[in-house]
Formats: sequence, C-alpha cells, structure tokens
Amino acid sequence: MEQAVLKKLRYSGLGERLTDPVIVHLMANALSNPDLLSLAAGFTDNAALPIDLVRQVVGEVAELPGGSECLQYGMNSGRPGLREAVIGLLSAYQGEQSIELDQDHVLISNGSQQSLYIATQVLCDPGDIVLVEKPSYFVYLEVLKGLGVRPVSIPTLADGRIDLDGLRTLIDRLSRNGDAGRIKALYMVTYHANPSSRCMPEDDKRNLGKLLQSLDFALPVIEDAAYRDLFFEKPFSARSILSLPEYADLPCLYAGTFTKPFATGMKVGYCCCPDKQLLGKMLNVKGQQDFGTANFTQAIIEKVINDGRYENFLREIRPHYGHKMQILHNALKEEGLAEMGWKWDVPAGGLLLWAEAPEGFDTRMGSPFYHACIDDGVLYVPGDYCFAEGSPFNYVRLSFGVLDEERLKEAAKRFVLSVRLACQNA
Ligand SMILES: Cc1ncc(COP(=O)(O)O)c(C=O)c1O
Repeated sequence: MEQAVLKKLRYSGLGERLTDPVIVHLMANALSNPDLLSLAAGFTDNAALPIDLVRQVVGEVAELPGGSECLQYGMNSGRPGLREAVIGLLSAYQGEQSIELDQDHVLISNGSQQSLYIATQVLCDPGDIVLVEKPSYFVYLEVLKGLGVRPVSIPTLADGRIDLDGLRTLIDRLSRNGDAGRIKALYMVTYHANPSSRCMPEDDKRNLGKLLQSLDFALPVIEDAAYRDLFFEKPFSARSILSLPEYADLPCLYAGTFTKPFATGMKVGYCCCPDKQLLGKMLNVKGQQDFGTANFTQAIIEKVINDGRYENFLREIRPHYGHKMQILHNALKEEGLAEMGWKWDVPAGGLLLWAEAPEGFDTRMGSPFYHACIDDGVLYVPGDYCFAEGSPFNYVRLSFGVLDEERLKEAAKRFVLSVRLACQNA
C-alpha cells in the first residue's frame, strides 16, 4: 500500500498539459460569492430560453407515430432530417441559396465545441500550429493548448480587421523557420465574434481566401459561426466560406450551433464540410467518442425548424438581446467609462461586449483591478486569455447575456467604480 502511494501516476501528454480551464476559475469565483454579478459567463438569458415551446414540442414528438424512436440511439452523423434542416437554414441567408451541400456534408455534434475539438484532433498533432485571430475564442485557445498545438495570432490592422500583408509575412517567416509544414489550420469567428463582437467583411474573407489559395499547401479553414443567427436587427451581409468561390478549392469547415440562438442546455451544434473525406475522418472520431449526439434533443430542434417555430422564436429573442446590449452599453457610458479612456464597439449581435482600457491598465486575473472588481461584486473575463500570445493585458470581455436589466445596470456601475478607484490609486 505504502509502495503504491510512492509510485507516480503517469499521465498522457494531454493529461499533463491540461490545467484548470479558465472558465472553471471564473465559475468558482462566482459560486463562492453569491452576491457577485457576473459579466463573465457567456451564457444565454434563462428568462429568454424557450421552455414553453420545448415543453410543447416534447409532447408533440412523443405523440408522433414511432415517437419512441427518438429515445433510441440515432446515427453517428446525426438525424438526416436535422442535417437537411441545417442546410435549409444556411441557404436561407442572402447569397447562399446555391450552397452545394447535401446532408452527407453535415455532422451534428454536442454543441459546436465538439466539432471544433474533433476537427482539431483530425488535423493537428502536438507541435503543430493553428493560425487564429487576435483576439480569439479563449476556450478554443485552451483546446489547442490541451492538444499540444500552438496558436499563432494573425496580425491585425488598427481597426481590428485581419492584416493580410502581415499574414503573408507571418507565413513566410514560419516557412523560413521550417515551420510551414506545421501550420495545419486557420480558425476564425466571423459573425459577432467571441470576444470582439466583430463580423468579418466579405471582402476581407475573399481576400483571405485568395491569399490561402496562393500558398503551396492546402490550409484548412475553420469558420466558427456560433453567433451568426443571433444578430439584433439584420443578418450580417457577408457570405460564409461555404459559398465563396475563393474557398472552393480549400478544405473548409463551418461550425454552427443551436445553443446560442435556441436551447443552450440541449447542446446541439453542427459542422458542415464540403470535403466528405475530411468529414469522414471527423465522423470516425465522433464514432469513437459517443457514436451520435442525443437523438431526442435533435428531434426537438428538427421539429421546430421544420414547422417554422425556430425562426419565430429567433424573431422574438433578437431584439431582447439587442436591448440587453444597449442597457449595458448605456450604463457603461453613463457611469463614465469612456471618459476614463476606455473604448468599445457597439455590437450588432452576439452576447458580448469587448472593451479596451488605456494602455498600461492591467486587467489580468490576479491583478489589483481584478481583485477590486471581485471585492466590488462584479466579474469579467480578463482579455489576455483571448490572445494566443497571452497579451496585451488591457482588455475585458463583458457578457450581457445572463443578467437581467437591473442587475446589468448594477454590474456596470460596480465595474466602472472599480475602474475609477484603480485610476485614482494609479
Ligand atoms: C465562438 C464560439 N464558438 C463555439 C462555442 C461553443 O458553443 P456550443 O458548444 O455551445 O455550441 C462558443 C461558446 O461559447 C463560442 O463562443
């Protein structure tokens, strides 16, 4: 027995590399202080989740002839009807009517997160490189870290758009270092992004496609469109990589989800891939992980899409989130955050507001400002987590998804108060 205690448990590379996910720290902070108002969690609003609709549809699905089939295992790739419905939703976007996909180009996953994870697993080995935006979705950066893959930021222009000349220079530099063969994918969040809330203009996307076409290797592009359906007033006009001719010869993956715009806890997402061989590789992994996403939740989503209730629901919640964004934006303004040199864009969709503090202002976890916010009862995501290189330190990600109107105003007040105190103490 004593000897067993002395023996060191040998973990895999993955087990060794993985440390506590950032999100776990943030949740622990929130849970240990129930008075804390969280602008950190990227959750949707409980008050706006479709509980009545789902209750009704569960009954309807159960009543269908052969309804119990939904409680049986389904297909590894997902329900054919839902995969068909996904193509219908995509091709309803302007300019995407002629999308050339059939249901065999679609995989239904446990949230889009699973698609992102599996895609990275089939494309990358430890030591490989994935090009990411600056900033990028921090949970994906952690996935890369866990898999031993190095995220490298694509340079950006002053207005936050990708810098194509800078990207070319970066790829040339990596090639000179002998790392070109290590670059295995480019990942981008193109609609109301997490965390920046930006959308990638179609011209930028096309020019990026042209640049990638000119490379002497085929670089897979992962387009993450998690927030595409969650615009406030009108859809962002850019077409997806699935429709743009510049991407026709590139390996492309397009990840989407029903967790943000519909029922978060059902955890149903999807991935579309014109290259059936690449999708087949992903399906092989999925087949080993869980051999299919929950059939029952898929059936519910399939039904609401097909009878139009999904679209009706989206029409209701889009202004709801637009209103919440406005509440947070106005409250930050009214409390005087901009006067202290902070800047942020007003999002046109999504759940997040990305704010930049003056240079030198440190928002990192563990910084005096971070602790001051906790003491004042408000939580945010430190922006450095969203940068592949771990800096700069002067950004925060604020979510307006979870809190109700009054608590959003109060959270903004507490946040700005902490900023004011930090400025006074500086
Ligand atoms: C940009 C982005 N992509 C993907 C996901 C994964 O979402 P889900 O697995 O719930 O579909 C999230 C979740 O927050 C996200 O923000």
